[in-house]
This record gives sequence, C-alpha cells and structure tokens, in this order.
Amino acid sequence: MIMSIAITLHLLAIVIWVGGMFFAHQVMRPAAVNTLEPPQRLQLWVAGFKRFFPWVWLCIGIVLVTGLWMFFQFPKPPLFMHIMLGLGIIMMLIFFHVFFAPYNRLKKAVAEERWKDGGAALNQIRMLVGINTIIGVITIIVATAGKYFLN
Ligand code: HEM
Repeated sequence: MIMSIAITLHLLAIVIWVGGMFFAHQVMRPAAVNTLEPPQRLQLWVAGFKRFFPWVWLCIGIVLVTGLWMFFQFPKPPLFMHIMLGLGIIMMLIFFHVFFAPYNRLKKAVAEERWKDGGAALNQIRMLVGINTIIGVITIIVATAGKYFLN
C-alpha cells in the first residue's frame, strides 16, 4: 500500500521536474529567442523560474523521500537503483548550483537592468538545464528499461 503511494508520488514528481526542464529548454527557449528582445526575454525567464523553481524544490523533496524509502525496502537493492540514486543526486546538485549561483546573478542583473550580464547568467542556466534534462532522460531509461537488465 505505502509502496504504491511512494512510486506514484515518485513518478509524478519526476514527470513535473524532467518534463518542465524539457519544455523550458527545447520549446520555450527557442520560441523566446525568436520573438523577444533581450530585456523582455530575460524578464520573462526570471518570472518563469520564479514559478517553476518552487515546484522543482517540492519535486526534489518528494523524489528523495520516496526514492530512499523504496530503496531501503530492498534487502539488496539491484544495480539500477544504485545508478538511479547516483544520477538523481547529481541532478539535485546541479539544480542547487543553478538556483544559488547563476539564477541569483540573473535576478540581480535583471533588477539592475544589466542585460549583458543577465544574458551570460541565463546562458549558464540554459547549459546546466540542458545537461540535467539529458541526465533526467538517462535516469528514466535506467529506471525503466534498466530494471530488466541491470539487476
Ligand atoms: C535520488 C534518489 C532516487 C532514489 C533513491 C530512487 C529510488 C527508486 C526506487 C527504489 C524505485 C522503485 C523501483 C522498483 O520498485 O522497481 C524507483 C522507481 C523509479 N524511479 Fe527513482 N529514485 C531516485 C531518483 C530518481 C530520478 C532522478 C528519476 C528520473 C529522472 C527516477 C525515476 C524513476 C522511475 C521512472 C521509476 C519507475 C521504475 C519502474 O518501476 O519501472 N528516480 N526509484
């Protein structure tokens, strides 16, 4: 019973986090580049991150608590779970870095209308979110397909 709740919450959190990154990176970013000048574009991203990042914090909390709880239900967790745990921790560390370093710089630059500095910070966020999206997709593959091969 608790397992069914844990895995459902685990997957809902993963869908919101990885799906949100995919949308931001692959869909919204090119659309914004094609339609908005830097000042509007940078302000849009600050407003967007302000709404998305609280969801990411919540998702990380849920993924970690449910993931670790499920992990410790297994006397000897299979290899794919160890890989998932490792990749999950890396994704979380990358997010913490984005949140506390370039996102802070982006907010400050936008508040002070330093668009060039803001663009540099946004570029770092773009790169790191791109990396985290790829790791996220790999982790999903490891967790689903890997379940059958990485025991
Ligand atoms: C960070 C710590 C994490 C831990 C400790 C963890 C642990 C677990 C455990 C124990 C299961 C249950 C597997 C089973 O019963 O077969 C699970 C399922 C799953 N996890 Fe994680 N996980 C973590 C992070 C992640 C991340 C970051 C992703 C994806 C980006 C992810 C994707 C999945 C998926 C897709 C499943 C469903 C697998 C299936 O049943 O087919 N997990 N996780």
